[in-house]
Amino acid sequence: MLKQNSLFLKSCRCEATERPPVWIMRQAGRYMPEYREIRKTYNFLEMCQTPELASQITMQPINAFGMDAAIIFSDILVTAQAMGGDLTFKEQEGPVFNNPPKSLDEIPVMSEDAVHSKLNYVFEAIKLTQAELPSDTPLIGFAGAPFTVGAYWLEGKLSKDLRATKKLLYQNPEFLHTVLQRIADVTVHYLNGQIKAGANALQIFDSWAHILTWDLFHEFSLKYVSYIISQLDNPKHIPVIYFCRASSVFAPLMALSGATVVGLDWNIDLNTARNAIDPKVALQGNFDPHLLYAPKTLIAKTIQDTYAEMDNTTGLIFNLGHGVLPDMDPEHIRHFVDTVKGL
Ligand code: CP3
Repeated sequence: MLKQNSLFLKSCRCEATERPPVWIMRQAGRYMPEYREIRKTYNFLEMCQTPELASQITMQPINAFGMDAAIIFSDILVTAQAMGGDLTFKEQEGPVFNNPPKSLDEIPVMSEDAVHSKLNYVFEAIKLTQAELPSDTPLIGFAGAPFTVGAYWLEGKLSKDLRATKKLLYQNPEFLHTVLQRIADVTVHYLNGQIKAGANALQIFDSWAHILTWDLFHEFSLKYVSYIISQLDNPKHIPVIYFCRASSVFAPLMALSGATVVGLDWNIDLNTARNAIDPKVALQGNFDPHLLYAPKTLIAKTIQDTYAEMDNTTGLIFNLGHGVLPDMDPEHIRHFVDTVKGL
């Protein structure tokens, strides 16, 4: 089967399909014993930056559970690292940037060539993975949105309320805008490299946009994501998914970005979202990740009920509203995927 005719890409284009496709954010990760085995020998960034490993890990959930799309194994913060950020992932603490930038001199403007040489390992991983994937399984590339990447980098270690970023936003918005524009330009080069390497779709993650107001969302998230989408060198019109964690309130705005698909958290009713958003824009989501702790019968019933309640199931991609958690049972992931496949 041509990848173009896969369930996932058809649903991204709002074409009719026999059932919704399914994949899961963080589908490759610590809940899988196969992942933990590799993680004993390598740290997380080594796993991302060694194309053979990144590709092998990308394939793990596809081989085990047969999701309808793969997502390249990497992290959203590699763009800030490529720009000079001193990034480490600390056990239990998550990402930390040592010496966060204090002035614009520390935030470079980068040429396309420079971005491509720093992030070439991701492009290599995409090429290796495409050679392995089944012909009906597309590969999603991704990047972080400038607001989220900038917040991690500028704060060094994220606070729960992003206080440093919000202070900056109110006290020195010009500085923040310049930082976001520089990250946006690097992200354009980065995503264009992923398109060239063979990604079949792209997802932009804005994991901290929910701390913004309606107006600030326009100014600090939507503006830069729209800019990135408008600058893509995308002759085959591969779909772009815009996902903001915990932000379904912003879904109608996200649909104005030029994205093909809007990713939803679990707060919103899917039909309500469908009725509020341009029917040409597909929806992705939006099961509560914690549903995967429920008994298998409840997992299946929730999926079947959600599907039955939808007035129109074209342009619908089933996923969680955020990622799988490390202590989840792989057999429940299998059950989630199998239930969607049986609809
Ligand atoms: O979805 C996939 O399977 C692809 C891989 C992927 C990872 N991170 C792997 C990962 C993707 C798409 C991401 C995106 C990402 N990274 C986001 C956006 C989505 C979201 O969660 O909101 C963010 C905010 C990051 C930054 C990041 N990376 C954090 C905050 C953490 C630590 C938190 C945690 O879950 O431990 C990471 C680490 C990370 N990224 C791991 C994995 C598999 C765990 C690394 C390990 O093995 O120790």
